[in-house]
Parts: sequence; structure tokens; C-alpha cells
Amino acid sequence: MNEQQRKEMSQIRQGNPADVKSEQDNLERIKNKKPDDFVKYFQTTYETPNLNKARKRGKQDIKYHEDFTIPDELQNIGQGKKYLIRTYGCQMNEHDTEVMAGILTELGFESTSDANEADIILLNTCAIRENAENKVFGELGHLKPLKQNRPDLILGVCGCMSQEESVVNKILEKHQHVDLIFGTHNIHRLPQLIQEAIFGKEMVVEVWSKEGDVIENLPKARNGKTKAWVNIMYGCDKFCTYCIVPMTRGKERSRRPEDIIQEIRHLAAQGYQEVTLLGQNVNAYGKDLADMDYGLGDLMDEIRKIDIPRVRFTTSHPRDFDDRLIEVLAKGGNLMPYIHLPVQSGSSEVLKRMNRKYTRESYLELVRKIKKAIPHAALTTDIIVGFPNETEEQFEETMTLYEEVGFEGAYTFIYSPREGTPAAKKEDNVPMDVKKQRLYRLNERVNQYSREALKKYQDQVVDVLVEGESKNNPDVLAGYTPESKLVNFRGPKSVIGKIVKVKITNTKSWTLDGEMAEEAVEVN
Ligand code: 5AD
Ligand code: SF4
Repeated sequence: MNEQQRKEMSQIRQGNPADVKSEQDNLERIKNKKPDDFVKYFQTTYETPNLNKARKRGKQDIKYHEDFTIPDELQNIGQGKKYLIRTYGCQMNEHDTEVMAGILTELGFESTSDANEADIILLNTCAIRENAENKVFGELGHLKPLKQNRPDLILGVCGCMSQEESVVNKILEKHQHVDLIFGTHNIHRLPQLIQEAIFGKEMVVEVWSKEGDVIENLPKARNGKTKAWVNIMYGCDKFCTYCIVPMTRGKERSRRPEDIIQEIRHLAAQGYQEVTLLGQNVNAYGKDLADMDYGLGDLMDEIRKIDIPRVRFTTSHPRDFDDRLIEVLAKGGNLMPYIHLPVQSGSSEVLKRMNRKYTRESYLELVRKIKKAIPHAALTTDIIVGFPNETEEQFEETMTLYEEVGFEGAYTFIYSPREGTPAAKKEDNVPMDVKKQRLYRLNERVNQYSREALKKYQDQVVDVLVEGESKNNPDVLAGYTPESKLVNFRGPKSVIGKIVKVKITNTKSWTLDGEMAEEAVEVN
């Protein structure tokens, strides 16, 4: 559903602005609604995610909106109130949280980390694996007494889980203390949704199943002043058979290059040291820009010229990782020599069943090209073990691929069936204890390769972008090298937010220890 369709479909609730008599009438109407009215309302705005429909997505429906504004009558709705957002899952969710925090701040809310003093609590959820969902349902249980003690508390569920029909139904049935459910395409509607949750006293559900527009000019309350996430595209059209994302995040939509570049220039001017370009499949960037032949390589070539010390991007799909991008990344400069390239499996047969659209051989060929062009690049990956009917030999192919590439790190997962995805309908002959064994064996290899990769930094002087104090020891500072290696070292707090030279004195499995080699270097 695009923005125009949304406006048309929501007529029954909001009316044509010309017909709305006054905000007071509007609030009265919401207050006077009976449960039956809300049933109608759910039917109008809640569209069940549907894989077949999603596959038939049309690019032509994407619309760009530059006109996000908070209506005057909602400007102060949060005055004297506090919000808390709990974020689960990936960087995309973390960035969505920054956008929601930005909107809430504009509404007058202040942030708090204490649930007891929050007037609104939002759970920004992740649906990628079952255990992520279980955590959220557990948290909803924990929050129930709080809501019972303070009925005015607004408890909301948003993010990827709210895009799933089964989750929405479970909340409607078993977690009636939830006030608000909204989807990943509805974030810009937060002011109106909060208004309805506050005044309506009935559960408000607003989730659109598949489409989504690109909304520019959303406020953002970024977390920190050193590193910033920048969305370059939304959604995914790859339809890997295990993955729920194409349904929870909608079709691929790229932001216009000029909007992205302007945002990064602005961040650079504010003193940010690093940007990470975000998308579920960043390599598909630009494919939907009907009026131009423009891809991620072209975008990076422009961003390279911006006066910001570090630029990263995530997440890549091997199928769309093209020569142009490799050529641009090889130019170096502020483009960091770190590439996260999820492979998922080392077996061509399993990759075919995953609908990954590449083979073991073509993945290895891509890695060869990358290493040739950018010899010092660090490569990391994502791997799923125990995909339905994965044989011992197929798993071994993943183990040997790991060795052949020499990955420096990996996120590894046991396959988790997601309702509505093609893989979840398959019989699976691999017992859970075998899957766990495979994960264990793979993780041993991952640890070993990470340890080896870090050893080569011994006694070297590296550039570290200092993010803050180490989690375990406030006397120690922590930051990352260009290759995304975490370095802990002692130094003055004044270097936080700067890039400094650190000499590596000790290497571990996952992190490096060092000592400051000199005062902060001037960057650019
Ligand atoms: N089960 C297990 N892991 C999954 N991932 C995505 N879907 C699933 C699933 N159903 C993993 C993939 C992806 C990462 C973000 O999560 O490895 O790259
Ligand atoms: Fe999911 Fe990534 Fe595949 Fe898209 S490319 S379907 S987000 S695993």
C-alpha cells in the first residue's frame, strides 16, 4: 500500500481534512468508539502479509514523500512525559528506533531508561528467528504488572514481529495489556497512533502488509555523535526461502542518491566520524530507480568524496555484488576495507534450496575478485546450519568454504523455521542435536580463524575510532580499526570520538589490546 492508498483507505478513520470539524470532535469520536468500531478499523488497516502477493510487487508504486510534519494539535502531546524504546535485532531496527525517538522528542517526550517512570514503552521487535520473538513475548509478560499498576502507561509493539499475522493474533488474544501495534511501514504515523492510543482506550493496530513508500525528512535522535546509520534502501526482494524479511520489511525501495548524499554531508558537518549505509540487501541499491542507471558502486564513488573519515555499508548480497562496486571500494580513502558478505552455506545444493541465486563456485570467484582488488580487506559472513535436510557432506562443504575464504569472523545460526516462508513447509530430517553439534563445530572454526586473523596485528600501529569506555572497565577505552576489529586501550577520555593511533600489545580471540601511540591525529 502506498501513501496515497493509505490516505484513501484511512478515510473512515481520519476523514478528509476538509471534513474534519475540529480536533476536539476528532478526540470525542475516538473516545466514543465501541469495540465493534475497532474491529472494522482493524479490517481496514491490517493487511495480512502474504508471500504470493509480495512476490508480485511492482516497482512503479513507490512514492517519495518530503513532507513529514507533526500536526500542530499534536506538537505538545508528550509534554512532561517520558518514553522508553527497547530495541531487538539488527542495525535497521536500531536506526528505526532513532527515528521513533526523534519523532517522540518532537512531540515533547523525554527519554528514560527506567520502565517505572516511562509513560510510553515501545518494543521494537525482530522476527528473524524464533528465539528473538520469544524474548519479546517474555518481555510483554514482565511488563504486564507495570501496566496493571499504571493503566495510563502506553505499551506498544512495533518492528518486524508486528508484520506477522500470527504475532498480531497472539497479542490480540493473550496480551491484551498492549495498547498499540504498528508495523515497519507505519513509523511516520507515530504521532497519530499515539494520540489514538492515549485517547481511544482500545488496542490500536496499524500494519500494512507489503508495500511502503520512502518518507524523507523524518526526525532522528541519533545514538551518539561519532557513528551514524544512514538508510540507503528499504525492504528486500530476494526471497531467500528461510527468510521472513521480504514480508516484514516490504519491497525494495531505494532512497534518491541526492537525499542520501545530503544526509551524509550534514552528518559530516556535525562532526560525525563514520557512517554506515544500511539496507537489507544494499547491493540491490538503485535497481528500482526507474529514471537512472545507478548502483551502489556509483553511490559509494560519490560518498567517497565527502569529508567524513569512515564509510561502511551493510548488508551485502553476493549475487548483486558487482565489479563496479569492487572497483570503487579499491579506491580506498574513507571506504573501509571491511566487507560483510553473508554466504549462508558452502553447498551449492543447499544454496539452491535457499534460493540464494549463487553457487559455492561463484561465491568463491567473487571472493577472489575482492581479494585481488582489495588485498587487505577483512571478510566476515553469516552462516545458517541445519537448513532442512542438510546432509553431513553439505555441512562439511560449509566448513571447507570457511577455510578456503579465510573469513575473519561470522555470525552463525541454527536454522529457525519462520511461518509463511517456503522452507518452513519442508519436512526436515535433521535432528536438533545434530544441528547443535554442527553449530558447535562451526563455531570452533570461526573462533580459530578469528584468533589467527587478529594475531597479525601484534605490534602493529592501527587507527582506532574511539567510541567510549569499555563495557567491562570504565578506565579502558574502546574503538574499532578500519577492518572493524575491536581494540581496548588506556587513554585520556578526551580522545573519545576521535581517531587515534594505537599500538597493539596483545591479541585475543575476538579483541585486541593496545596502548596509545600518540595523541589524536587530525583527520582530513
Ligand atoms: N533461521 C536462522 N537464521 C536466519 N537468518 C535469516 N533467517 C533465518 C532463519 N530463518 C540469518 C541469516 C541472515 C542473518 C541476518 O540471519 O544468516 O544473514
Ligand atoms: Fe532475507 Fe537477506 Fe535473503 Fe533478503 S537477502 S531474503 S533479507 S536473507
